Amino acid sequence: MSQKNSRIVLVTGGAGFVGSHAVLVLLEEGYSVIVVDNLVNAYKAENEELPESLIRVMKLTGKSLIFYNINLCDKNALKEVFSKHKIGCVMHFAALKAVGESCTIPLTYYSNNITGSIILFEVMKEAGVKNLVYSSSSTVYGNPQFLPLTETHPTGQGCTNPYGKSKYFVEEILKDLASSDKSWKVISLRYFNPVGAHPSGDIGEDPAGIPNNLMPYISQVAVGRQPKLLVYGNDYETHDGTGVRDYIHIMDLAEGHNYALKKLFSQDFSGFKAYNLGTGCGYSVLDVVKAFSAASGRKIAYDIVGRREGDIASSYCDSTLAFKELGWKANRLLTDMCADAWRWQSKNPNGFQ
Ligand code: UD1
Repeated sequence: MSQKNSRIVLVTGGAGFVGSHAVLVLLEEGYSVIVVDNLVNAYKAENEELPESLIRVMKLTGKSLIFYNINLCDKNALKEVFSKHKIGCVMHFAALKAVGESCTIPLTYYSNNITGSIILFEVMKEAGVKNLVYSSSSTVYGNPQFLPLTETHPTGQGCTNPYGKSKYFVEEILKDLASSDKSWKVISLRYFNPVGAHPSGDIGEDPAGIPNNLMPYISQVAVGRQPKLLVYGNDYETHDGTGVRDYIHIMDLAEGHNYALKKLFSQDFSGFKAYNLGTGCGYSVLDVVKAFSAASGRKIAYDIVGRREGDIASSYCDSTLAFKELGWKANRLLTDMCADAWRWQSKNPNGFQ
C-alpha cells in the first residue's frame, strides 16, 4: 500500500458548483488536488480534456490539478486512482441534487448517491484512506421542529424526497462506519443554501435546463434568459409571507471545507461529526429579489403563485458549533452573494458553454 500524504486530496464531483469552488480554495491553500467527476452536471468542450469549470479554476489559481472522468459506481477505475496517488483525504461532493427529478427517478438517485458513496467508502477502506469530508445538506433536518437549526435537531424525519433521503442515509452509513472502526475521521458539512460565485465572475453555478433554485432563476431573469420569476407562495408565516432561507456565499462555504480539513487532521478529532454551514440569517424570496435587483441594476419581474410542493416556511441555522470547533464563520453578506452571482451571470450569460 502506498504511503499517504495529507496534502493530497481526492475531490469527487469537483467539476460542479460547490466542488469547483472548493477545489479552488484547496489549490490556493497549497493542496494537491485530484478530481473525479463523471461530468453528468458539468460542461466539457469536445476538444478539451478537462471540464470548463476546472480549466478556469486552474487559470484563476495558476495551479494545476489531475482530473479523471470516472463514475463512482465504477469500482475498478476508482481503485486504480487510489493505487496511483498517495491520497490522504477525500472530499465527497459527487451527487445528483434535483429534488423534483429525484421523485420521478428515485432508483437513479439512490444508485448514484448511495451506491456510489458506498463504493467510494469501500475503495477508501481498502486503500487505508479513512479521512473524509462529506457534502451534506440542511435537507436532512426535514421540516424544522425549532429554529435556528442546531446540529442536535433530529435528522431524517420528514425528509420528503429521495434526494433528501439519500443525504440522510449516507450520513447514517458514515456514522455506522466511524463507530465500527475508530480510525475513520469523518466530517459531514450540512449546507444551507449556497449561492453567489467566485468574485472574478469566471466560475459559478451553471444549472442544466431551467433552474430549480431561487438565485440562479433570478439571475436568468436579470440576464433575460427567463421572462419572470414565479414566487412560490406569499402566505407563509414569515415577515412578508414568502419562504425564508439561510443563503450562504459559495466562497464562505468553500472555505468551510478547508477549515474542516484542518480539523480532520488535528490530534483531537475522531469519529463522525456534523457541522452546519450557513450564516444564521434568514432572508425571504422578496428580500433576495430586492437585493439582486439592487446589485444588478435590473428589474426582476415576478408573479406570486401557489406554494411549491414540499417547501417549508423557514430554514436557517445556528452556526456557532462550526465557529467554536472549526474556527469558521461566514463573512460575506447577501449583497456580496448577489453582486458575485450577477458578475458571473452577466459575464457568462450561457454559463460555461
Ligand atoms: C433546495 C432543495 C434542497 C437543497 C437546496 C440546495 C427543494 C424543495 N429543496 O432548497 O433540498 O438542499 O435547494 O440549495 O428544492 N423559490 C421561488 N421561486 C423559484 C425558486 C424558489 O419562489 O423559482 C422559493 C422557494 O419556494 C423557497 C426559496 O425560494 O422559499 C428557496 O428555494 P430554493 O432555492 O429552491 O432552495 P430550497 O427549496 O431551500
